[in-house]
Amino acid sequence: MHNQVIYQLYPKSFYDSNGDGIGDLRGVIEKIDYLVSLNVDMIWFNPFFVSPQNDNGYDVADYRAIDPRFGTMADFDELIAKLSEHHIGVMLDMVLNHTSTAHQWFQKALAGDAKYQAYYYLRDPKPDGSLPTNWQSKFGGPAWSAFGNTGKYYLHLYDRTQADLDWHNPEVRAEAADIVNFWRAKGVRGFRFDVLNVIGKSDSLVDAEPGTESKFLYTDTPIVQTYIKELAAHSFGQDPDSVTVGEMSSTGLQQAVAYTKPENHELSMVFQFHHLKVDYVDGQKWTAMRYDFNALRKLLHTWGTGMAQGGGWQALFWNNHDQPRAIDRFADPKQRYASATLLAASIHLSRGTPYIYMGEEIGMSDPDYTGMNDYVDIEAHNAYNALLAQGLSAHDAFAIVHAKARDNSRTPMQWDDGATAGFTTGTPWLKSTNQRVVNVEAAVSQRIFAFYQKLIALRKQFNVISEGDYQPFGENIDWLYGYQRDFGGQHLLVLNNFADHDIEIPIPSAFQKAQILITNEPSLNPAATLTLPAYGTVALLQQ
Ligand code: GLC
Ligand code: CA
Repeated sequence: MHNQVIYQLYPKSFYDSNGDGIGDLRGVIEKIDYLVSLNVDMIWFNPFFVSPQNDNGYDVADYRAIDPRFGTMADFDELIAKLSEHHIGVMLDMVLNHTSTAHQWFQKALAGDAKYQAYYYLRDPKPDGSLPTNWQSKFGGPAWSAFGNTGKYYLHLYDRTQADLDWHNPEVRAEAADIVNFWRAKGVRGFRFDVLNVIGKSDSLVDAEPGTESKFLYTDTPIVQTYIKELAAHSFGQDPDSVTVGEMSSTGLQQAVAYTKPENHELSMVFQFHHLKVDYVDGQKWTAMRYDFNALRKLLHTWGTGMAQGGGWQALFWNNHDQPRAIDRFADPKQRYASATLLAASIHLSRGTPYIYMGEEIGMSDPDYTGMNDYVDIEAHNAYNALLAQGLSAHDAFAIVHAKARDNSRTPMQWDDGATAGFTTGTPWLKSTNQRVVNVEAAVSQRIFAFYQKLIALRKQFNVISEGDYQPFGENIDWLYGYQRDFGGQHLLVLNNFADHDIEIPIPSAFQKAQILITNEPSLNPAATLTLPAYGTVALLQQ
């Protein structure tokens, strides 16, 4: 499993086969050759289940049916069959912390069915009539909304149309396993579990202490591991070739090790996000700040070393559908080839399973939107209004949304330089702005794509990449993110320059005659010192 690379595909934005402006499963089928040529092992699809789409499919109304806007079950069956002809697996997104309020469980609960009321967290207001707890929703506002006209409230850590499921209820846990088994029976072997480490809320919900965040009360509680073990035993754990990843919000290193150590029989790996908060002022996302390289490097080293020492396994990623494009945050889209390949090499040669987020492999960057009307995501609109309410000017609030919005990565895949980037013959649900510069057919994109192909091939070829350990290198050299990896007589030194200028790196004698395994700077010559240009990357192999 460690030599695999996973591609994340956002179905709504990959390819639209019928001109309605929304990507769909037939669109993916039409583009299978593209995915095959990249040579990825598995594709993680963001949710395409029946959903009102208040949170782009993370509000699921039926876990066992395809939303008509994305296609039909026959399309899905065809897609999985065609991908498996090419030995590409499918990873589905299991959103099991909450359901849409349009889900029949919630609807039955609302209609008074006690069985389904016990699926959710329903609570009375406090004696003074205020909300059951002071918890905040992660999308802004209180985490409680009125449960019909019953006088009770239901808990929603996300949007008010995403009601949290009560995992204390064994019937809820059985439903979760059943859903996973439904897809296993169709041959699905990969599962990504959405916000998995918040399923262990305490039964007795209490207020967060003034000045503290409520998330500490419900994140990574010990019972999460019990629930994951049970889910594994009743579903994916029965497939020796299953690949699972838990999306872990604000998780800790020791917990991440525990979730993924093979002997614990929980998950193959986890996503953690600490390295993607180094451009947050005081941990707050909706703020403006150039990222802190030293903080980033320290986090990458802490997690690389800690996971290796503890025997855990991490997902390696810079981008996903919730993050602005890394090339804008940590490098420079004006130096697109160097920046994109630097970011790619820095994680693909590291210890863990690399994920490629749709469009990253051609160097896609954030769109240049000019007004709030260009954004679709509720989170962006809520944040904009909250920033205005805090007293920011419209100009400053917009600048923050522009840099931080999730729509930055959700723009359609850029297939060509046409008006809709070759994504649709209709009006795209979200607009593209820079497809003339970056698209599958552009020379710069093709060079980036070829670099990714090579990284994927190297991971299959060299055990030191898939299985090696992890040791930080050159922490005293400004702007260098370096690490060394050793395995069975192979030694790999990976050097990544995050600066917009040259840096000088003293090379240990053991690597002075090493082979250059891959670089984005063909003129390099390893000697006693190596000058690495802006956004340069090089991997030296000694065996
Ligand atoms: C995860 C998803 C995100 C979604 C949230 C609530 O963080 O990646 O897109 O909004 O969960 O389901
Ligand atoms: Ca469509």
